[in-house]
Amino acid sequence: MRYEVDFLVVGSGIAGLSFALKVAPYGKVCILTKGDASEGSTRYAQGGIAAVMYDSDSFDKHIHDTLVAGDGICDREVVEMTIREAPDRIRELVQYGVEFDRVPNSELRTPNSELRFDLHREGGHSEFRILHHKDNTGEEIERGLLEAARRHPNIEIKERQFAIDIITQHHLGQRVTKHTPDIECYGVYALDCDTNRIDTYLAKVTLLATGGMGNVYSTTTTPVISTGDGVAMVHRARGVLSDLEFMQFHPTSLYNPAEKPAFLITEAMRGAGAVLKDREGKEFMQKYDKRLSLAPRDIVARAIDNEMKLSGKDYLYLDARGIGKKQLIEGFPTIYAKCLSIGIDITKDMIPVRPAAHYQCGGIKVDRNGESSIHHLYAAGECACTGLHGGNRLASNSLLEAVVYAHNAAQSAIAQISSPNSEFRTPNSQIPDWNAEGMVLNEEMVLITQTKKELQEIMWNYVGIVRSDLRLQRAFDRLNLIFRETEDLYNRSVLTEPLSELRNLIACAYLIIKMARARRQNVGLHYSLDLL
Ligand code: FAD
Ligand code: SIN
Repeated sequence: MRYEVDFLVVGSGIAGLSFALKVAPYGKVCILTKGDASEGSTRYAQGGIAAVMYDSDSFDKHIHDTLVAGDGICDREVVEMTIREAPDRIRELVQYGVEFDRVPNSELRTPNSELRFDLHREGGHSEFRILHHKDNTGEEIERGLLEAARRHPNIEIKERQFAIDIITQHHLGQRVTKHTPDIECYGVYALDCDTNRIDTYLAKVTLLATGGMGNVYSTTTTPVISTGDGVAMVHRARGVLSDLEFMQFHPTSLYNPAEKPAFLITEAMRGAGAVLKDREGKEFMQKYDKRLSLAPRDIVARAIDNEMKLSGKDYLYLDARGIGKKQLIEGFPTIYAKCLSIGIDITKDMIPVRPAAHYQCGGIKVDRNGESSIHHLYAAGECACTGLHGGNRLASNSLLEAVVYAHNAAQSAIAQISSPNSEFRTPNSQIPDWNAEGMVLNEEMVLITQTKKELQEIMWNYVGIVRSDLRLQRAFDRLNLIFRETEDLYNRSVLTEPLSELRNLIACAYLIIKMARARRQNVGLHYSLDLL
């Protein structure tokens, strides 16, 4: 089947839905999403979204904290723009129907008599500035945006549609290399996961909002859909990618080895007073940073990694007992219930935690308008690299970046297609449909699942929190073999979602290693023993 729309959005998390809602008054929008529409990292976000809402805080402080966490390599103009735009984007989320917790019976009402937002604090933040909805902020954001998108007559959401590749001149038979100027995007090919048919979606503008790539690693807080599809698609289309060596490991995922994804214990809990302790119950962060358990994430994750290596143990503890029973149960109901379900009463017991791959700071390189190096192709959310995070993302700046860049991308896309001089042409009738002839159905699922596990272990062991030249070389050599085997399988098989995801994970792993090897200085999340 062939479809033609004005705006094609791949992904239904905070970035894709925010963009769709903004462009919908200007044309037909189609959102493709590979699972259920609500599935993605957004709905698992716990801590919240950072913004300066009141005079007790200041833009300068939030900018400073972001630059410090980013370890000196953030794009300062991007940081300033994003943080100054934050309050407007928060107010829009509220208008779409998203609810953030407010201070009950507050005497400190806002000038228009609204109750003030209740603000949390997380690692690296010098102020309480995290808007949240209990400890399930992402679920509330996803609910609000999805309901608003479903109500809009111009937005169609198509679930279980897996975008395989973006369509460029390459599909018209032209040679496209990374040096080709003016690569253009005409839309995407997508696999209908129910019928196994591959459809052609043509659009004036395409936005990739495909989220992260946490599943490159064996332990991750990200859902199974986070397989770096957008980044891999842009890589195959010869677009520009950046900063992929900066994979962020969250210091505190719940140690419950059989569970995938790893359940997150929000940093807001440390903001409320929980402290990290070793297996003997002693605090250890004083050895690493004067900000103790609230130091930026890269520092805390490395400290935990080091303590685990020194002790030979698989986990350490987060002690939240000092927070108090009432605040724990009312403020962190999801975590309280989750831990209780596996026999841990967080009001009485310490919580076993370990780091987990959590967030990719790099991605598809975009400009201030969210435009990628490929014409008519935008990217927003975790799959994009804007320059905001530099070497390490400040907690709760990710949801913020997603809404700010969805807004900017929408403004730019609307201006471009509305301009009388618009260079946007109607999608090209010469674009061929996907050719799946001559392929046999791959029935050997084990080849895919086993290879995925191997890949995740290689990345965890050699390209994790602490790296070295030798570890990166080992990972690269092993990946090469996996890459060749998988390309062979791909060339012989009917395309399926698991196979396509595996190829994408391999491409992302390759790019992480390549960029890590090229980075010859320890900065932010990239930490190599050979660069000390
Ligand atoms: P996602 O929400 O991940 O959505 C990606 C979408 O793309 C999905 O709809 C998926 O189906 C679709 N998709 C992907 N590939 C394809 C394909 N090939 N074809 C079709 N569709 C595709 N950040 C904060 O700022 N604050 C927090 O408190 C916070 N907590 C977090 C807690 C957890 C457990 C995790 C994992 C992350 C957290 N983050 C937090 C990070 C933040 O949640 C994510 O970075 C953000 O939600 C990403 O939003 P997104 O719209 O870019 O992608
Ligand atoms: C958390 O709640 O600790 C996660 C916040 C984030 O990833 O920004």
